[in-house]
Amino acid sequence: MPAQTPRLQIEHLSRRYDGRLVVDDISLSVMPGQVTCLLGPSGCGKSTTLRMIAGVETQDSGTIRVDGTVICDGTARVPPEERQIGLMFQDFALFPHLTVAGNVAFGLSGSKAETQARVQELLDRVGLGHFTKSFPHELSGGEQQRVALARALAPRPRIMLMDEPFSGLDNRLRDGIRDETLDILREEDAAVLLVTHEPDEAMRMADDIALMRGGRIVQQGAPYNVYNAPVDKDAVAFFSDVNTIRGTVRGALTETPFGHFLAPGVPDGAQVDIVIRPQHIKIDFDRAGRGPDPTPQDGTPARGVVQRARFMGSESIVEFRMDHDGSILKATVPNVFLPSPGKALWLMIRRDRCFVFPARA
Ligand SMILES: Nc1ncnc2c1ncn2[C@@H]1O[C@H](COP(=O)(O)OP(=O)(O)O)[C@@H](O)[C@H]1O
Ligand SMILES: [Mg+2]
Repeated sequence: MPAQTPRLQIEHLSRRYDGRLVVDDISLSVMPGQVTCLLGPSGCGKSTTLRMIAGVETQDSGTIRVDGTVICDGTARVPPEERQIGLMFQDFALFPHLTVAGNVAFGLSGSKAETQARVQELLDRVGLGHFTKSFPHELSGGEQQRVALARALAPRPRIMLMDEPFSGLDNRLRDGIRDETLDILREEDAAVLLVTHEPDEAMRMADDIALMRGGRIVQQGAPYNVYNAPVDKDAVAFFSDVNTIRGTVRGALTETPFGHFLAPGVPDGAQVDIVIRPQHIKIDFDRAGRGPDPTPQDGTPARGVVQRARFMGSESIVEFRMDHDGSILKATVPNVFLPSPGKALWLMIRRDRCFVFPARA
């Protein structure tokens, strides 16, 4: 089978502002019907990347292709309105003086009958078929958001660029609207590039996550892989709280109070960080000063004393001060268990869930 041509392909895209590289050699591609998420902290260059693809900003170097055809490089440049790209931003301002139908019809050309049919089709699709004659101010935030989606999709864009499109909505609405939006986008078969700084949103929506930091993509892959095979400690920390245990390597192993950990390829004397998420620390009871027996899966238990325990609903977050060095470790436990401060417990680290990285100073 011949390889499919990506709907959107960007190669080596870079952009400087005032001499500072804010987008630094970014490459990625998105297939039709696929959602790729640019995920990263505020200021890492996500919106700038989107603006270059939309054509409202021009890259200093690099190439943008749509269905294999160059739309912007060092020589050619297709103007934004001819790129067949749909846009949706956080402040998805609808036109206040136009009806819902007028808003959705805004970017459409063609006969009146065709336009009306397309508007009705999309409003039905987003569940607002009865609101054609309403004005934006008569709708809730979530409904307005769906009108904005219908408006962006009406001209059948080949690519949808969405910049934090859900961040203006309150939490309870958001999950439902994300799912609905995703269903509609897939039906339309557009390639979607979604920008967010929220890991949950990326995990929920993306087929592919491109994790960005300082203008670069540091890791790209399916949500499962980015979460479970992070490239470095910061990549772990972007998705959750982390605990770090530092150790020194001897013979590709590092000894710690939790037993030894493999450190393949790390030279003797080098330091490593063993990084573990709070939900992957196991807790057991103290039995007259002793903990559970060591196991190959969980290593050796180390004792700590509860400093703080916070009840979070479905789980509790417990902070321990460890006996061996006074360091603080955080563990997440199911909500049925909320230990009191001062209680001694034993902690173990799941070998299959920890990450060992060379330590940075
Ligand atoms: N027009 C501009 N002029 C100068 N600096 C800019 C401009 N637009 C963005 N920047 C800077 O570029 C960096 C990346 O911005 P942006 O792409 O908006 O990040 P993100 O969307 O990831 O929060 C930021 O440091 C921002 O201040
Ligand atoms: Mg932004």
